[in-house]
Amino acid sequence: MLDSLVLHDFRCFARAEFHPAPGLNLLSAPNASGKSSLLEGICVALRLQSPRAGMLTEAVRRGAGGFSLRGRCGDRELACHYSAGEGRQLKLDGVAQRKSEDYLRVGLVAFFANEDIELVRGSSSKRRRFVDFLAIQCDAGYLKNLRAYERALRSRNFLLKEGAHRGREITAYDGPLLAAGDYLGGVRRGLCAELGPMVARHVTAISPRAEVSGLRYERSGGDDLAAALAASAGEERRLRQTLVGPHRDDILLELEGAAAATFASEGQQRTLALALRLAQAELIRSRRGSPPVYLLDDIFGELDTERRRRLLRVLPGDAQRILTTTNWQWLEEAEEAAEWTIRDARVARV
Ligand SMILES: Nc1ncnc2c1ncn2[C@@H]1O[C@H](COP(=O)(O)OP(=O)(O)OP(=O)(O)O)[C@@H](O)[C@H]1O
Ligand SMILES: [Mg+2]
Repeated sequence: MLDSLVLHDFRCFARAEFHPAPGLNLLSAPNASGKSSLLEGICVALRLQSPRAGMLTEAVRRGAGGFSLRGRCGDRELACHYSAGEGRQLKLDGVAQRKSEDYLRVGLVAFFANEDIELVRGSSSKRRRFVDFLAIQCDAGYLKNLRAYERALRSRNFLLKEGAHRGREITAYDGPLLAAGDYLGGVRRGLCAELGPMVARHVTAISPRAEVSGLRYERSGGDDLAAALAASAGEERRLRQTLVGPHRDDILLELEGAAAATFASEGQQRTLALALRLAQAELIRSRRGSPPVYLLDDIFGELDTERRRRLLRVLPGDAQRILTTTNWQWLEEAEEAAEWTIRDARVARV
């Protein structure tokens, strides 16, 4: 649970503070007032990852040299400073951290945004990002293996671009690539097996008509990555890049037995994307023993009233929930909530 966040030079905030309540927090403010920026700040502070920006540089307030975020979760204190020149600097309980592993053990997050529809109809990279965000929170060795895989892949692709004469050097990276790749594939497959039934259940809970959904993890080279890598050697030299491995894997999503990306309506795709996020949160909770902070960024506008109500009901009452929108007029009965707004780039209680 997040007790407080102090933002400096983050997006539109020169300096702002937010002290969310433990349960339901409803934040409403006009367009461009900083709602998405605030939730992004929470996500970066807790997970060191922005749900929208590819690069943290984008989040530095225009004209400033760098941003800093200070978060308090119970008796733990997180501090993250970022500047283009010095990169990312982390502190946990006031102690500088060279690695992010201990830092990332403190806060858990599930982030819901309108762009989530891309999980269903967008490219496979969106779904890999989704499963990585989940896996890092669920599996203690995942981040280390992900970084090792990315390093081996980068080096290997660099050498493949150089040409066939680097063959011996290329194969030197096969070992690290396969070791990390098998680890990632195994964790992702296990998580997807658990996600499948959860997603199906959430689809039915949100959608007034029952819609049967399916989810399957597909490894790009099949189950034997070493054999697939060996088999693709000729082709990868021709195309000058590594063709099999976790960087090419995908999650296949189905609705009523057909590919969700092409068969499902927009509303159904949104429902499926929501169910994926809800299942992600549920799985984090079952693996880690406590629920993540639910951050929902303005996703109600795209849902019909019935789906909005159902969604609010399925969010677990014992989790901290921070929901933004431009207005809550449609909300009739709700449990007790802390209400917030943003005025002149400051968060204020209503
Ligand atoms: N790096 C930055 N530096 C300064 N301002 C920024 C930066 N990035 C974005 N902004 C501005 O911050 C303001 C708030 O953006 P944000 O996306 O948080 O608004 P929002 O309340 O979510 O709006 P909407 O309801 O339209 O989604 C916008 O005016 C945006 O242009
Ligand atoms: Mg927004």
